[in-house]
Amino acid sequence: MSILSVKNLSKSFALDGETIKAVDDVTFSVNQGEIFGLIGLSGAGKSTLVRCLNLLTKPDEGEVWFEGLNLVNQAEEMLREKRREMGIIFQHFNLFMRKTVRENVAYPLRIAGKQKFEIDARVDELLDYIGLSAHARSYPAELSGGQKQRVAIARALALNPRLLLSDEATSALDPVNTELVVTMLKRVVEDLGIAVVLITHQMEVAKVLCDRVAVMEQGRIVEENTVEALFLQPREAASRKLVRGFDENIPLEHFASLATGPVYRLGFRTDSVMRPLVSDISRRFDIGVNILAGNINALVSGDVGYLIVSFDDESEGVVAAIDSLKGQGVEMIRLTNGESQGILHHTKGGLVS
Ligand SMILES: Nc1ncnc2c1ncn2[C@@H]1O[C@H](COP(=O)(O)OP(=O)(O)OP(=O)(O)O)[C@@H](O)[C@H]1O
Ligand SMILES: [Mg+2]
Repeated sequence: MSILSVKNLSKSFALDGETIKAVDDVTFSVNQGEIFGLIGLSGAGKSTLVRCLNLLTKPDEGEVWFEGLNLVNQAEEMLREKRREMGIIFQHFNLFMRKTVRENVAYPLRIAGKQKFEIDARVDELLDYIGLSAHARSYPAELSGGQKQRVAIARALALNPRLLLSDEATSALDPVNTELVVTMLKRVVEDLGIAVVLITHQMEVAKVLCDRVAVMEQGRIVEENTVEALFLQPREAASRKLVRGFDENIPLEHFASLATGPVYRLGFRTDSVMRPLVSDISRRFDIGVNILAGNINALVSGDVGYLIVSFDDESEGVVAAIDSLKGQGVEMIRLTNGESQGILHHTKGGLVS
């Protein structure tokens, strides 16, 4: 069952006489207990979208259904109430620097008019949960980035929200602290069964947390899929940029220049990752296959891998080998045209030459 359902949401800004469509006709739903990733490069419109979800920014058009209520039509009083059911965490933590850890976590409870004994008990519980009881009297400046983000998570959870909005929560952290915060978010979802909208430009973070992701580019969702399908067969150029991994600085032209025949991207599922697919087809069809790049990614759903390979030519053997790979469930995307070595261009719905 979906807890959040966004329909045809749009938001534009006027800047120097020009109109910027920061969010452009966006539609998606998030299920109860799910971590839904919204991924996109800088400027894609992610933060604008998240501010539209809790109506801190009023969308120009569209609907935001949260627990059966279209927030767009609601009066400010109802919005305040609904926002309590949506926790939010940010890249730069947004903690009160002059308040202690305890006071920061207590803040939303105080604003909600809770009694002191209730606040004290809830804050103790939350500090224990995030493992920072010993830092209750510390100030944010005395904490590491990862600890600050854990305080922000505790504050966001104080009023038992049904949904957590996370806007680049790990982007300002080093890999060790990113891992700590990622682990904490996983635990929060498992323990509390809440849903998370996880906004990030880091595929590394999305792949270990999300089942489903939407890729944003220039205000639009260009591709929505399971993380596994996105890694196996990224349909759009924007998605491919985000999942390419270690070869992301190598342009497609470079692969083409290394090859005499067509270049393909092979996407493997867990069961075929470990099989010697390439040496197998090379032997069976007596063809030359060169591995240009490759990677394996551990996702929530299991391991998926990809290889970028070039074939020596487009002989019958190569055509048969490609068919055989497809028959074994390998996702094949042709990246170049072969002899002419023209690079295929991306269009909506796939690749054309
Ligand atoms: N208040 C505003 N006034 C004018 N333009 C804005 C405003 N807020 C955002 N924009 C523009 O909208 C577009 C989307 O910005 P947004 O901050 O939502 O992107 P983002 O995906 O969160 O980027 P980042 O990854 O850098 O945080 C950008 O072109 C930005 O300049
Ligand atoms: Mg942003």
